[in-house]
Amino acid sequence: MRKVKAGVAGYGRSGMHIHCHSMGMLPEKYDIVALCEPDDERRAEAEKNLKCRVYKDFNKFLKDGETELVTVATPSYLHVKCAIAALEAGKNVVCEKPLSDKVSDVDMMIKAARKNKKIFAPFQNKRHDPLFLKMKEIMDSGVLGRIVEIKITWHSFGRRWDWQSLRKYKGGTLNNTCPHAIDHGMQFLPEKDNYKVFCQLEKTLTCGDADDHVKIIVKGKKSPLLDIEVTSAAGYGQEEKYLMMGTKGALKANWNEIWWKHFDPRSLPKRTLPKKAISEKRAYGNEEIKWTEEYWKVPDNAMHFSVAFYDSLYKTLTKGAPLYVTPESARRVVWLTEECHRQAGL
Ligand SMILES: NC(=O)c1ccc[n+]([C@@H]2O[C@H](COP(=O)([O-])OP(=O)(O)OC[C@H]3O[C@@H](n4cnc5c(N)ncnc54)[C@H](O)[C@@H]3O)[C@@H](O)[C@H]2O)c1
Repeated sequence: MRKVKAGVAGYGRSGMHIHCHSMGMLPEKYDIVALCEPDDERRAEAEKNLKCRVYKDFNKFLKDGETELVTVATPSYLHVKCAIAALEAGKNVVCEKPLSDKVSDVDMMIKAARKNKKIFAPFQNKRHDPLFLKMKEIMDSGVLGRIVEIKITWHSFGRRWDWQSLRKYKGGTLNNTCPHAIDHGMQFLPEKDNYKVFCQLEKTLTCGDADDHVKIIVKGKKSPLLDIEVTSAAGYGQEEKYLMMGTKGALKANWNEIWWKHFDPRSLPKRTLPKKAISEKRAYGNEEIKWTEEYWKVPDNAMHFSVAFYDSLYKTLTKGAPLYVTPESARRVVWLTEECHRQAGL
């Protein structure tokens, strides 16, 4: 089995714990042969842990003749520059979220990939989350009826004071956490509709100058209303992370469990509407719904979604399988992010 020779840029929370770890879980498929990290201590750590060539300078790292895949896990403000430079250097590229906060940047990245005939794989790793895949399957089965509204509510409470709290590094909750929530939300909605967006961004507890409270509402003509709330200011955090309201059922989910219920509308008695505006026996007309209730939990042995990303990418890199997370699909996330920043002025 051929091993993909990989290079990782950035040995931080994501570079070390997500990318090196995930490729390390697939030792027969990936070999990390190079790493780039400007910080001396982290670079020494990487050299010791990975036993690979290490570079301080990104351009020298790109000249490493053995790497065919470069993962960009640098701070967010460097993604566009690093990804385009790597594509121009003839590497296939995995780029961390957020790709950017501007659609025009994503278009430049897509163009660079096409020009150099390289694969550009946006790291929307939660697209491989078994929980998301199961919710999508339930929704698409039609068992919930017409979906009227979808809520994605990720609550927490606390301050942040790392670079992710600063606008100059493209920090903030909209750029940082929301790409996952927005990606799920946009995947639940049809690709094409005449979408209208409302967004409110606030700076609440953060020590920096970027947003940490995000409310987004998306509504198309033919689509369910999508309501996303990702905040660090929810002292009473809501347990459900996802909620779907349908005409024949409903779904709720936390991080790894899904509950859904549905009924057959034909099981309800026929009703006649009144001819006069007078209530019958001053009652409200309650009726019992016979729900079928279902439950699903992410299996304990499920592959972690970041590992699943690299497992799927391997098939693209070595067997020409289509990319599972296409740049065009990740572009939808950036489109909404850009519109939100524009509206909220933050
Ligand atoms: N997909 C996910 O689930 C997920 C999770 C965490 C972080 N991220 C993303 O990963 C990126 C990195 O975040 P982090 O939390 O790992 O930050 P971090 O600060 O922990 O790590 C970033 C590393 O990049 C290094 N770096 C800076 N400039 C560089 C350059 N030019 N070349 C190579 N390395 C460089 C820094 O020295 C640092 O070690 C962010 O864009 C973030 O949004 C994604």
